[in-house]
Amino acid sequence: MIISKPFLTVEQIQNRVRELAAEISEDYKGKEILSVGILRGAFIFFADIVRLIQVPMEIDFLNVSSYMKTETSGEIKIHTDLREDIKDKDVLLIEDIVDTGLTLNYIRNRLLSRQPASLKICAFLDKKPRRRVEVPLDYIGFEIPDEYIVGYGLDYDNKFRNLPYIAIFKKNI
Ligand code: IMP
Repeated sequence: MIISKPFLTVEQIQNRVRELAAEISEDYKGKEILSVGILRGAFIFFADIVRLIQVPMEIDFLNVSSYMKTETSGEIKIHTDLREDIKDKDVLLIEDIVDTGLTLNYIRNRLLSRQPASLKICAFLDKKPRRRVEVPLDYIGFEIPDEYIVGYGLDYDNKFRNLPYIAIFKKNI
């Protein structure tokens, strides 16, 4: 098992999160949003970005899983659903990484059926080469190549989430 040196450093992450928060604050000026963090992977990104977004907000969380170690199970399980009613609210979904797109696509359709006033998606990382379903992403932190990464909330087998930077994870070297 090998963890690379930072692929994205703490400073790069902080700068990009600040930029995204400024863009979101501008786009939602005069509105109130419901920020929905997707657990567990987005917990650090969520905590960082909501503190920099300068519009009134409510927060809620969805606890889902779709991954078995480094391979997708193809199955999305909702462990804990939202507590808030999202009807007529401006919802901002905050996700750690979009890989095949299956998870976000499922969540997005599920939330759209509850008739929010709007639904936008902010993803910290976009692993575009692996996409299997197209999902509209409104805010993207970084596009990354097809590598398995850990840190800044992202895990391998629920480990390495507490690394403050993003690193590439290699299993069999
Ligand atoms: P998708 O449904 O294939 O888009 O996968 C989305 C979920 O898989 C993310 O929310 C992550 O929890 C997990 N995931 C995908 N790629 C990685 C990775 O490189 N490192 C850690 N988790 C990942």
